[in-house]
Amino acid sequence: MAKIVNSWNDWDPLKRVIVGRCDNSMIPPEEPATSEKVPVDSEMRGMWGLRPLRTVERGNECLENLVKAVEERGVVVDRPTPLQWNQAIGTPDFRNDSMMTCMPPRDILLTVGNEIMASANSFRCRYFEYLAYWPLMKQYFDEDPEFLWTQAPRPRLTDASYKHNYYDEKITLEERLVRTANKDFVTTEVEPMWDAADLMRMGKDIFIQHGLTTNRTAMEWFQRYYPEYRIHAMNFPGDPYPIHIDATFVPLRPGLIINNPHRHPAEGQRDIFEANDWQIVDAAQPAHDEPPALCYSSVWLSMNCLVLDPSTVIVEASEVNQQEQMDQLGMNVIPVDLRDAYPFGGGLHCSTADVYREGECLDYFP
Ligand code: ARG
Repeated sequence: MAKIVNSWNDWDPLKRVIVGRCDNSMIPPEEPATSEKVPVDSEMRGMWGLRPLRTVERGNECLENLVKAVEERGVVVDRPTPLQWNQAIGTPDFRNDSMMTCMPPRDILLTVGNEIMASANSFRCRYFEYLAYWPLMKQYFDEDPEFLWTQAPRPRLTDASYKHNYYDEKITLEERLVRTANKDFVTTEVEPMWDAADLMRMGKDIFIQHGLTTNRTAMEWFQRYYPEYRIHAMNFPGDPYPIHIDATFVPLRPGLIINNPHRHPAEGQRDIFEANDWQIVDAAQPAHDEPPALCYSSVWLSMNCLVLDPSTVIVEASEVNQQEQMDQLGMNVIPVDLRDAYPFGGGLHCSTADVYREGECLDYFP
């Protein structure tokens, strides 16, 4: 029996990875806190249903581009098993008229060493998304005797998990930024809620973005679950929609992070990096002025790259500024055409989840 699951950070040499699938993807119906989380100018507001088939096919083609690029470099690729996401779901605490998709995996699966943990997402439409990964988890469990197959405490997601009438429709961008600066978010603290993409793993240290999808109770939960790790909260006051850290603060290798120039860490939160001689560089400008159609994310998916090893990185093919910057930072750049997968939830990092990276748990901040 072999060791299949092992990953402590986002830069060690990648050997095995999960890449999502767009099949059967939905734009989910309105639920508590969606309007707070979806940008006000998004054309998706108020609509829901199956995503147009040709966009699903095109998204899948993009993911195939990624699969091919990593397989050519010897990385083993695993894929989830999509469900019929248009099914209505119910628990004792809520009902929802549909689910969403199994994109992107980064939001659902957290790999820490030999453990993969399914997250405790605050979106009701994502409550059963983990099921798409259960066949893979069973396979890893059968083949790797050390693999820890874990599910975080499931949130109840009753109405008490959200602040109601938290934003009025006319809220301005400035008012949103005041809320972010005050660490005042739409999710409450009645239970731990977190998306895996809000966590940045760096060996002994785990940095967690506090925002619309991850709350403080989750951080407290992580600190007790992983007593041997240091858990750090991160806030980015410049982000009016703080959701997922991987288009904001992205490590390329030990000692080097690219940072969204509109979203610098809050007061004091750079100190640990600076004290250990890490360089935090503003990321290059995105090549596009707007995200593609029916997309939840911002143009900053430009910096959402997949590091294959400390000197090799995959960057989206149209993001020429980001490619040039990576080159100047000493990285070999592999461009992959993935932009039409963005509407399904994100870029190159989002679309994947780590299974195996060669390396061990190190202390980068001694
Ligand atoms: N909130 C980020 C932005 O729009 C997008 C993050 C997407 N990441 C992910 N793992 N789904 O800039």
